[in-house]
Amino acid sequence: MNSINIKSITSPNIISLPRFTPKLKLAVLASGKGSNLKAIIEDILSKRLDAEIKCLIVSNPNCGAIEIANKHLIPVKVVTSNDFINRESLDQHLVNLLHAYNVELVIMAGWMRIVTHILIDSFKNKIINIHPSLLPSFKGKEAVKNALNNKVKITGCTVHIVEEEVDSGEILIQSAVQVNTGDTEELLLKRIQSQEHKIISLGIAIAGQRLR
Ligand code: GRF
Repeated sequence: MNSINIKSITSPNIISLPRFTPKLKLAVLASGKGSNLKAIIEDILSKRLDAEIKCLIVSNPNCGAIEIANKHLIPVKVVTSNDFINRESLDQHLVNLLHAYNVELVIMAGWMRIVTHILIDSFKNKIINIHPSLLPSFKGKEAVKNALNNKVKITGCTVHIVEEEVDSGEILIQSAVQVNTGDTEELLLKRIQSQEHKIISLGIAIAGQRLR
């Protein structure tokens, strides 16, 4: 298997990815519009990424990601906090689901929940997250707003391993985005997300190489 030389990455969208046989078995955890889910599906369909999405798990029953999964016949599970007495029992349910679908790598793309040791310990180094800043700067929910308020000239996005501490795990890949004069949160987020769609599959492949 060829390995990805992260240091050489200047144009993430044209880097070819290592092959995985059998294909990587993924679950995507989301609660937003699902643009990263769509990017992963497109990379799979174009055969850039040797993976299959075994299931989509959402915390918001009305999120856009569901429609995308339905279109591609990906099973969808809705897991909302109302059904559980605490975070640990919700995470135990997630672990059970992930085992039932025979998932080996978990992709958090807009999963707006704090995860506990129950999930982390069962999938150690097998959960990755995409975050809209150059970590360790601007952790948390308001990453894009905080980047603008702090008047940074460059921000971006990061794919990292998930640990219990929010947005803190090992960084797998990043892409930089210039902040323009007059940028609004919406404009900047749009450019950051277009970079997210280029690096998400690279992050998956880097994490996947460690499993095989
Ligand atoms: C992404 O911007 C990601 O960085 C953040 O949540 C957003 C999810 O967007 N964690 P989408 O649902 O993939 O469009």
